[in-house]
Amino acid sequence: MDELIEEARGLMDGKVCLITGASRGIGLHIALGLASMGAFVVLTGHNQVRGENACRHVDAFALRDCADFILVDLSSQEQIHRFAETVKQKYDHLDVLVNNAGGFFLKREESLDGIEMTFALNHLNYFMTTMLLMDSLLRSESPRIVNVASESHRSETMHFTDLQLMDDYNAMRAYGQSKLANLLFTYELSRRLLDTDVTVNALHPGFVNTYLGKQDKLVRPFMNMIHFLFAKSAKAGAETPIYLASSPDVTDITGQYFIDKKPTQSSYESHDLEEAFRLWKVSEELCNLEVARFRPGYLKQLPTHLNKSW
Ligand SMILES: NC(=O)c1ccc[n+]([C@@H]2O[C@H](COP(=O)([O-])OP(=O)(O)OC[C@H]3O[C@@H](n4cnc5c(N)ncnc54)[C@H](OP(=O)(O)O)[C@@H]3O)[C@@H](O)[C@H]2O)c1
Repeated sequence: MDELIEEARGLMDGKVCLITGASRGIGLHIALGLASMGAFVVLTGHNQVRGENACRHVDAFALRDCADFILVDLSSQEQIHRFAETVKQKYDHLDVLVNNAGGFFLKREESLDGIEMTFALNHLNYFMTTMLLMDSLLRSESPRIVNVASESHRSETMHFTDLQLMDDYNAMRAYGQSKLANLLFTYELSRRLLDTDVTVNALHPGFVNTYLGKQDKLVRPFMNMIHFLFAKSAKAGAETPIYLASSPDVTDITGQYFIDKKPTQSSYESHDLEEAFRLWKVSEELCNLEVARFRPGYLKQLPTHLNKSW
């Protein structure tokens, strides 16, 4: 990654990049990378102390004041609304949004809104954050959305009749479904944004040694050992998201899935247009976001000059 940053030093000068879940893990290293290329980075997390420490780390690494931290629980819809308002008040536009915050929950939990936690945090958070910050992105000259997904999507389908896995919860199923949702969302959004300058791509970061899935004290030593043996570092896991957020090679690329900085075919199911549309509808309903302008065909009906001002 050092080469990537070295080659790209100055490339992100003046850009404002928001990275969710950047208080540690892959997100923190995305922030470090983009800041050292010249960007101002806005980090989020749901622990104040960890977030502030992450900001200090970024400033020290980039040798300038270039990081801000916003505390938000991204599994809570009310908090996402407040967070989006805060971002809009503080920054007149956003050049890059990296949807990265996510979790893996061994036991079934529910968010404050009564929604299964994996679905709420890993998918609805990406959906809502993106929708609520779209106007800020549209004010950038070359806006990019980067969605951190996972190869875990391959083993799953969308369980629309029991989306929140009330009947038969299984952590792998919940996680895989949420990561499939990341891809269906990415592709659907890219179709809806075709008439704009906004690009949206997804990626798998690799198997990465982070805190993901380590909340349970009993599981942690086992996960640490597996990570030690097989996983790459968080710094290495940040390479592809940094590439998608910054590289001139992908300026005009949208609606793609990347692994190791290369476009890769995702599962057959992830390309299903009907599933994508159904997921979009369900997401709108679960988030109480009736966003008519995001309906298919809407953008096509708008004269180009109006696309920038939805
Ligand atoms: N690690 C892997 O092998 C792997 C593989 C494929 C995909 N991914 C994806 O990579 C992304 C990043 O995961 P990671 O491995 O870096 O995990 P991590 O080390 O656990 O970091 C997760 C980040 O998300 C934040 N977060 C968690 N719950 C949150 C909530 N309710 N509200 C706000 N922020 C919250 C955490 O903030 P706090 O510090 O405040 O907890 C942290 O900054 C996820 O989308 C994950 O699915 C990871």
